[in-house]
Amino acid sequence: MFNSKTTINIALLGFGTVGQGIVDILQKEKEHLENKCGKKLAIAGIAVRNLEKKRDINLPKSLFTTDSEQLATREDVDVVFELMGGIDQARTCVLQALRAGKPVVTANKALLAEYAEEIFSCAREYKLPVGYEASVAAAVPVIRFLRDGLASSQISEIEGILNGTTNFILSQMQEKGQNYEEAFNLAESLGYLEADPSLDVDGWDAAHKLVILASIAFKKYVKLADVEREGIARVTADEIEAAKSAGKVIKLVASARKKSGKIQLQVRPQALSDTHVLARVGGGLSGVRVQADRVGDFFAQGPGAGALPTASAVLSDLIAMLRHAEMSGFGF
Ligand code: NAP
Ligand code: HSE
Repeated sequence: MFNSKTTINIALLGFGTVGQGIVDILQKEKEHLENKCGKKLAIAGIAVRNLEKKRDINLPKSLFTTDSEQLATREDVDVVFELMGGIDQARTCVLQALRAGKPVVTANKALLAEYAEEIFSCAREYKLPVGYEASVAAAVPVIRFLRDGLASSQISEIEGILNGTTNFILSQMQEKGQNYEEAFNLAESLGYLEADPSLDVDGWDAAHKLVILASIAFKKYVKLADVEREGIARVTADEIEAAKSAGKVIKLVASARKKSGKIQLQVRPQALSDTHVLARVGGGLSGVRVQADRVGDFFAQGPGAGALPTASAVLSDLIAMLRHAEMSGFGF
């Protein structure tokens, strides 16, 4: 795929929290990354909505465009990083990029929760990889862990804290006595929030990620509509205090279980005993517990949101592609 190339030209679709994180890492760790890739890395172009917006990182104006579809299919582009968010335009760009022969890396869980089947079918047709490690739990390699590491195991249950923003807000309220608004504003300043914050606080984002994990675990495309979902909007300071007095911690827990052949999917606030492994996933971290029949319990946690954790997962997908690692959709 990249064999004949000495330089990999990257199209960045989106230059917000994650897109700027990519350029930040590329600027500071270029040599290290190029050694890992065995190729030079260059930004071929950057698609944004607003060319006039002030950016934290200054790059030549000539790199920027508002025409994401044109950039995604441009002849000199070798790989497309879809970091725009949203669904319709992202879907169009990803499909067009694949049809134009470009491998894709995306961090967009909302897109995959709705259109994974279409995107992976297209990728298969064009024999191209789609990397999406950043879409769930950012820097925590849960996709590889579940899809590849546990490929031979039968998964019976997944339980996770999949949304960093809500975990951060609940943790600040519980541990620092902050009110909802203070905690929310701090989460926003750390780059945790989706462009539409209701995706976080109403549990949609956790549901999107759960759909991805459950599809991999149970080897079928599960539907977003099948997730029972409740966000954190109704969690009160009194409930947090009452839970605390009872030795419990309120967390937004996403769970997927197979019971009598049926898959049960849920995102809802739960008061967990403070000895529960997920109760200790603090701040803006994410954590995932997986139970595999005959093998046992596994747990992974780490930074699940923010510019650098997410950008590092996107770049890891590129490195995996360059190493010809298998990237076959959800692995079924
Ligand atoms: P963001 O800060 O809102 O940035 C989005 C970027 O995309 C902006 O640069 C925006 O342009 C550009 N954009 C949006 N629509 C566009 C369009 N139609 N055409 C061209 N450019 C467009 O979002 P983000 O936080 O970086 O997230 C990007 C993706 O990564 C999302 O799918 C998100 O769910 C996912 N993700 C984010 C995190 C995180 O911690 N932030 C973690 C994991 C995954 P302007 O700058 O001109 O507005
Ligand atoms: N808004 C998301 C979160 C970003 O807080 O987890 C990472 O997917």
